[in-house]
Amino acid sequence: MQLYLDTGNIDEIKEIAAWGVLDGVTTNPTLLSREKDRGDYRALLKEICDVVQGPVSAEVTALDAEGMVRQAQSLSKISEHIVVKIPCIPEGLKAAGVLFEEGIHVNMTLTFSPLQAILAANAGAAYVSPFVGRLDDIGHEGINQVARIREIFDNYGIDTRIIFASTRHPEHVMQAALIGADICTMPAKVFRQMVKHPLTDIGLKRFLDDWEKTGFSIE
Ligand code: G3P
Repeated sequence: MQLYLDTGNIDEIKEIAAWGVLDGVTTNPTLLSREKDRGDYRALLKEICDVVQGPVSAEVTALDAEGMVRQAQSLSKISEHIVVKIPCIPEGLKAAGVLFEEGIHVNMTLTFSPLQAILAANAGAAYVSPFVGRLDDIGHEGINQVARIREIFDNYGIDTRIIFASTRHPEHVMQAALIGADICTMPAKVFRQMVKHPLTDIGLKRFLDDWEKTGFSIE
Protein backbone atom coordinates (compact mmCIF):
# COMPACT_ATOMS: atom_id res chain seq x y z
CA MET A 1 0.00 0.00 0.00
CA GLN A 2 1.31 3.43 -0.87
CA LEU A 3 1.44 6.09 1.83
CA TYR A 4 0.55 9.73 1.19
CA LEU A 5 0.61 12.75 3.46
CA ASP A 6 -2.63 14.73 3.72
CA THR A 7 -1.24 18.21 4.31
CA GLY A 8 -0.11 21.43 2.68
CA ASN A 9 2.64 21.96 5.23
CA ILE A 10 6.07 21.82 3.61
CA ASP A 11 7.92 21.16 6.88
CA GLU A 12 5.80 18.08 7.56
CA ILE A 13 6.32 16.93 3.98
CA LYS A 14 10.10 17.32 4.25
CA GLU A 15 10.10 15.49 7.59
CA ILE A 16 8.25 12.41 6.33
CA ALA A 17 9.89 12.44 2.88
CA ALA A 18 13.24 12.17 4.66
CA TRP A 19 12.10 8.79 6.08
CA GLY A 20 12.00 7.49 2.50
CA VAL A 21 8.44 6.20 2.81
CA LEU A 22 6.42 9.00 1.22
CA ASP A 23 4.73 8.17 -2.10
CA GLY A 24 2.58 11.26 -2.58
CA VAL A 25 0.66 14.16 -1.03
CA THR A 26 -2.99 15.18 -0.99
CA THR A 27 -4.07 18.74 -0.30
CA ASN A 28 -7.45 20.42 -0.25
CA PRO A 29 -8.59 24.06 0.06
CA THR A 30 -8.84 23.79 3.86
CA LEU A 31 -5.32 22.38 4.19
CA LEU A 32 -3.85 25.03 1.86
CA SER A 33 -5.74 27.80 3.69
CA ARG A 34 -3.67 26.91 6.78
CA GLU A 35 -0.52 27.77 4.80
CA LYS A 36 -1.79 31.18 3.65
CA ASP A 37 1.14 32.98 5.29
CA ARG A 38 3.57 31.25 2.93
CA GLY A 39 2.17 33.38 0.12
CA ASP A 40 1.39 32.13 -3.38
CA TYR A 41 -0.30 28.71 -3.36
CA ARG A 42 1.25 27.87 -6.75
CA ALA A 43 4.78 28.33 -5.45
CA LEU A 44 3.91 26.16 -2.46
CA LEU A 45 2.46 23.40 -4.65
CA LYS A 46 5.57 23.53 -6.86
CA GLU A 47 7.81 23.19 -3.81
CA ILE A 48 5.73 20.25 -2.56
CA CYS A 49 6.00 18.53 -5.97
CA ASP A 50 9.77 19.06 -6.06
CA VAL A 51 10.17 17.44 -2.64
CA VAL A 52 7.77 14.55 -3.18
CA GLN A 53 8.61 13.65 -6.79
CA GLY A 54 5.29 11.75 -6.86
CA PRO A 55 1.56 12.50 -7.20
CA VAL A 56 0.40 15.70 -5.45
CA SER A 57 -3.33 16.36 -5.40
CA ALA A 58 -4.55 19.96 -5.71
CA GLU A 59 -8.26 20.76 -5.72
CA VAL A 60 -10.37 22.95 -7.99
CA THR A 61 -12.85 25.41 -6.47
CA ALA A 62 -15.12 26.02 -9.50
CA LEU A 63 -18.54 24.44 -9.35
CA ASP A 64 -19.23 24.20 -13.11
CA ALA A 65 -17.52 21.73 -15.44
CA GLU A 66 -16.06 24.40 -17.68
CA GLY A 67 -14.54 26.25 -14.75
CA MET A 68 -13.21 23.02 -13.25
CA VAL A 69 -11.52 22.09 -16.52
CA ARG A 70 -9.96 25.56 -16.79
CA GLN A 71 -8.66 25.42 -13.21
CA ALA A 72 -7.42 21.83 -13.71
CA GLN A 73 -5.47 22.87 -16.81
CA SER A 74 -3.94 25.75 -14.87
CA LEU A 75 -3.04 23.59 -11.83
CA SER A 76 -1.54 20.87 -13.99
CA LYS A 77 0.90 23.43 -15.44
CA ILE A 78 2.53 23.78 -12.00
CA SER A 79 4.22 20.38 -12.27
CA GLU A 80 3.95 17.05 -14.04
CA HIS A 81 3.21 15.59 -10.57
CA ILE A 82 -0.06 17.47 -10.06
CA VAL A 83 -3.20 15.35 -9.83
CA VAL A 84 -6.39 17.42 -9.91
CA LYS A 85 -8.97 16.87 -7.22
CA ILE A 86 -12.52 17.23 -8.50
CA PRO A 87 -15.60 16.90 -6.25
CA CYS A 88 -17.95 14.00 -6.93
CA ILE A 89 -20.90 16.02 -8.25
CA PRO A 90 -22.49 15.90 -11.74
CA GLU A 91 -20.38 18.84 -12.99
CA GLY A 92 -17.31 17.09 -11.58
CA LEU A 93 -18.09 13.93 -13.57
CA LYS A 94 -18.43 16.00 -16.73
CA ALA A 95 -15.09 17.70 -16.04
CA ALA A 96 -13.39 14.37 -15.26
CA GLY A 97 -14.40 13.03 -18.68
CA VAL A 98 -12.88 16.04 -20.47
CA LEU A 99 -9.71 15.89 -18.36
CA PHE A 100 -9.35 12.15 -19.04
CA GLU A 101 -9.31 12.92 -22.77
CA GLU A 102 -6.65 15.57 -22.14
CA GLY A 103 -4.49 13.14 -20.14
CA ILE A 104 -4.84 15.09 -16.87
CA HIS A 105 -5.09 12.78 -13.88
CA VAL A 106 -8.15 13.29 -11.67
CA ASN A 107 -8.63 12.35 -8.03
CA MET A 108 -12.42 12.25 -7.46
CA THR A 109 -12.77 13.69 -3.99
CA LEU A 110 -15.57 14.02 -1.43
CA THR A 111 -16.61 10.48 -2.31
CA PHE A 112 -18.67 8.74 0.35
CA SER A 113 -20.35 5.78 -1.38
CA PRO A 114 -19.50 2.91 -3.75
CA LEU A 115 -22.06 4.27 -6.21
CA GLN A 116 -20.19 7.56 -6.42
CA ALA A 117 -16.98 5.56 -6.86
CA ILE A 118 -18.45 3.64 -9.82
CA LEU A 119 -19.41 6.93 -11.46
CA ALA A 120 -15.94 8.38 -10.80
CA ALA A 121 -14.25 5.35 -12.37
CA ASN A 122 -16.56 5.38 -15.39
CA ALA A 123 -15.88 9.09 -15.87
CA GLY A 124 -12.19 8.30 -16.16
CA ALA A 125 -10.87 9.31 -12.73
CA ALA A 126 -7.41 7.90 -12.05
CA TYR A 127 -8.04 8.00 -8.28
CA VAL A 128 -11.09 7.94 -6.05
CA SER A 129 -10.97 9.19 -2.45
CA PRO A 130 -13.53 7.74 -0.03
CA PHE A 131 -13.52 9.90 3.15
CA VAL A 132 -13.60 7.27 5.88
CA GLY A 133 -13.18 9.49 8.97
CA ARG A 134 -16.03 11.78 7.99
CA LEU A 135 -18.33 8.76 7.55
CA ASP A 136 -17.26 7.45 10.98
CA ASP A 137 -18.02 10.91 12.40
CA ILE A 138 -21.71 10.56 11.46
CA GLY A 139 -22.02 7.05 12.87
CA HIS A 140 -21.28 4.98 9.77
CA GLU A 141 -18.49 2.42 9.42
CA GLY A 142 -16.51 4.18 6.71
CA ILE A 143 -14.33 1.15 6.10
CA ASN A 144 -17.37 -0.80 4.83
CA GLN A 145 -17.68 1.62 1.94
CA VAL A 146 -14.03 1.14 1.04
CA ALA A 147 -14.45 -2.65 1.18
CA ARG A 148 -17.38 -2.43 -1.23
CA ILE A 149 -15.49 -0.16 -3.61
CA ARG A 150 -12.54 -2.61 -3.56
CA GLU A 151 -14.87 -5.54 -4.33
CA ILE A 152 -16.64 -3.72 -7.16
CA PHE A 153 -13.41 -2.50 -8.74
CA ASP A 154 -11.98 -6.04 -8.54
CA ASN A 155 -15.18 -7.51 -10.06
CA TYR A 156 -14.70 -5.42 -13.18
CA GLY A 157 -10.94 -5.02 -13.30
CA ILE A 158 -11.30 -1.26 -12.78
CA ASP A 159 -7.86 0.29 -12.40
CA THR A 160 -8.96 3.54 -10.72
CA ARG A 161 -6.83 3.65 -7.58
CA ILE A 162 -8.56 3.79 -4.20
CA ILE A 163 -7.20 6.43 -1.81
CA PHE A 164 -8.34 5.75 1.77
CA ALA A 165 -8.82 9.38 2.89
CA SER A 166 -9.91 11.29 5.98
CA THR A 167 -7.62 9.04 8.00
CA ARG A 168 -7.72 9.93 11.67
CA HIS A 169 -5.60 7.31 13.50
CA PRO A 170 -3.23 4.37 12.95
CA GLU A 171 -6.07 1.85 13.17
CA HIS A 172 -7.51 3.43 10.02
CA VAL A 173 -4.21 2.73 8.24
CA MET A 174 -4.42 -0.89 9.38
CA GLN A 175 -8.00 -1.11 8.05
CA ALA A 176 -6.92 0.42 4.74
CA ALA A 177 -4.13 -2.12 4.30
CA LEU A 178 -6.27 -5.13 5.25
CA ILE A 179 -9.08 -4.13 2.91
CA GLY A 180 -6.70 -3.60 -0.02
CA ALA A 181 -6.84 0.17 -0.51
CA ASP A 182 -4.16 1.14 -3.03
CA ILE A 183 -3.16 4.23 -1.07
CA CYS A 184 -3.74 5.63 2.39
CA THR A 185 -3.43 9.39 2.84
CA MET A 186 -2.98 10.62 6.39
CA PRO A 187 -1.84 13.56 8.52
CA ALA A 188 1.81 13.68 9.69
CA LYS A 189 0.60 12.91 13.20
CA VAL A 190 -0.56 9.45 12.05
CA PHE A 191 2.78 8.73 10.32
CA ARG A 192 4.52 9.56 13.62
CA GLN A 193 2.10 7.37 15.58
CA MET A 194 2.70 4.46 13.18
CA VAL A 195 6.43 4.28 13.84
CA LYS A 196 6.06 4.46 17.62
CA HIS A 197 6.02 1.37 19.84
CA PRO A 198 6.77 1.41 23.58
CA LEU A 199 8.69 -1.88 23.32
CA THR A 200 10.93 -0.35 20.65
CA ASP A 201 11.82 2.53 22.99
CA ILE A 202 12.33 0.23 26.02
CA GLY A 203 14.37 -2.23 23.96
CA LEU A 204 16.57 0.48 22.50
CA LYS A 205 17.30 1.99 25.91
CA ARG A 206 18.24 -1.43 27.31
CA PHE A 207 20.59 -2.19 24.38
CA LEU A 208 22.31 1.16 24.71
CA ASP A 209 22.64 0.93 28.52
CA ASP A 210 24.19 -2.54 28.26
CA TRP A 211 26.57 -1.43 25.52
CA GLU A 212 27.69 1.61 27.51
CA LYS A 213 28.72 -0.66 30.40
CA THR A 214 31.25 -2.40 28.15
CA GLY A 215 33.16 0.82 27.43
CA PHE A 216 33.38 -0.27 23.76
CA SER A 217 32.60 2.10 20.90
CA ILE A 218 31.72 1.34 17.28
CA GLU A 219 33.94 3.31 14.90
O1 G3P B 1 -7.81 15.31 1.89
C1 G3P B 1 -9.11 15.00 2.17
C2 G3P B 1 -9.39 14.28 3.45
O2 G3P B 1 -8.37 13.44 3.79
C3 G3P B 1 -9.91 15.16 4.54
O3 G3P B 1 -9.78 14.63 5.81
O4 G3P B 1 -9.69 14.83 8.27
O5 G3P B 1 -10.61 16.73 6.91
O6 G3P B 1 -11.88 14.61 7.13
P1 G3P B 1 -10.54 15.24 7.08
